[in-house]
Amino acid sequence: MKKIIVAIDGHSSTGKSTMAKALAKYAGYIYVDTGAMYRAVALFAERNGWITDTEINENELKKHLGEIKISFKPNDKGEQDTYLNGENVEKEIRTLEIGNVASRVSAIGFVRRELVRQQQLMGIEKGIVMDGRDIGTVVFPNAELKVFVTGSPEVRARRRHLELIEKGEEADLEAVLANVKERDERDSNRKESPLRKADDAIVIDNTHLNMEEQNEMLRTLFHEKTL
Ligand code: DC
Repeated sequence: MKKIIVAIDGHSSTGKSTMAKALAKYAGYIYVDTGAMYRAVALFAERNGWITDTEINENELKKHLGEIKISFKPNDKGEQDTYLNGENVEKEIRTLEIGNVASRVSAIGFVRRELVRQQQLMGIEKGIVMDGRDIGTVVFPNAELKVFVTGSPEVRARRRHLELIEKGEEADLEAVLANVKERDERDSNRKESPLRKADDAIVIDNTHLNMEEQNEMLRTLFHEKTL
């Protein structure tokens, strides 16, 4: 069967990563969560004190960008954890706060160029499922299968809220909804590679779909492209 590149983009908290992971497992493909890469850069900047409520110290971030080494390694459960300079930061990067900083950091051109370069290298041999915001538009404009996932902000916030609670984290539904809307707004309106559907991407609106229905749709699309 021929190997392809699967690009999955879409809004925050649409379950993109979950469906991308499920497809990668099913197809025996590599899975790359590019959001985790922006989150790792955000954590690095935050730890160094380069982030305030209103500003990012871009000079320092630029100077030290080359020191940020991001990698992925499977854990005991077979899930991929994110590593920042050899340290497992999987839990730390998943907070609402780091999500927000990641959204701000991802609007910076030099950060995007560096991460896009790394992502393109990862896909050189194909057989990869990558999820993010600009995979079908910028990272792999020639990807054989492009999917754009969306859903109503309220439904996405409810799912994300439940996920945080299940992880034992404190979360307020209104705050999660505000976070979802804020990130949609920033991701879609930034100057550098704003979130938008590639012309040839297939839209999956999962407002009324459960995870299994959504996975099934993706598998069907995958088969159509690899036959
Ligand atoms: O998918 P996520 O929520 O983990 O992503 C965190 C932030 O990173 C998100 O607000 C937008 C940004 N991002 C991006 O700009 N481009 C990508 N390819 C992936 C994520």
